[in-house]
Amino acid sequence: MPITNSQSQTRIDEIADHIYRVSTPLPPNPDMPPGFSFNQFLIVDDEPLLFHTGPKRMFPLVREAIATVTPPENLRYVAFSHVEGDESGSLTEWLETAPGAVPVCSKVGGMVFASDATDRPTRALADGEALALGRHSVRWFDAPHVPHGWECGFLGEVTTKTLFCGDLFTQAGADNPPVTESEILGPSEGMRKMMDYFAHGPNTRATLERLAAFEPRLLACMHGSAYRGDGAQHLRALADALTA
Ligand SMILES: [Fe+2]
Ligand SMILES: [Fe+2]
Repeated sequence: MPITNSQSQTRIDEIADHIYRVSTPLPPNPDMPPGFSFNQFLIVDDEPLLFHTGPKRMFPLVREAIATVTPPENLRYVAFSHVEGDESGSLTEWLETAPGAVPVCSKVGGMVFASDATDRPTRALADGEALALGRHSVRWFDAPHVPHGWECGFLGEVTTKTLFCGDLFTQAGADNPPVTESEILGPSEGMRKMMDYFAHGPNTRATLERLAAFEPRLLACMHGSAYRGDGAQHLRALADALTA
């Protein structure tokens, strides 16, 4: 069973070759749309990488889930898209857990946050820079202000064509399947109508177009289901929706 904590219903699922999604559902509450989920992604390889840390309060749940597939203390990279509770909130806890791990983020993220928040040297990646993990390799894409945060960026895993797209395509709901082949733009636009989390900067379309050029086959979303299918088409349709 993928459930790793019966009380919280935290689960872990392999969504691509040695790429795992940890997900914790939040039941409906007055401050949020109908249910929500927080997801983190783990690439198990010679040098394991976690993409976004999860909120500080969820750290024990995320650690418990990851421990079912790989020793958490072996993590080598703790990456995040931008500075926010669910992205980087338990960075300190992860670095304490994994003595050989370093933070991974954008150059701006290193400058405005990570170089001050931790004593560990930060692996700040330039736009387009690759990071080899073993059989997997990830590439950093700068995405300033898309959807928010000057320091924002994403990782693309080259061998599986997985785009770890953070808050893009955020879907409400606490019981979304780990992976869906049904389109997720409609559900994510429904979420955005309730809670618009985009900065709507002038470079949004160009940034999404650069992500589309990676031609992702799997969109690994922080909130909601991952989408398997034509990621480029989805990203271009998102750009259309944001500028409509
Ligand atoms: Fe965010
Ligand atoms: Fe988020």
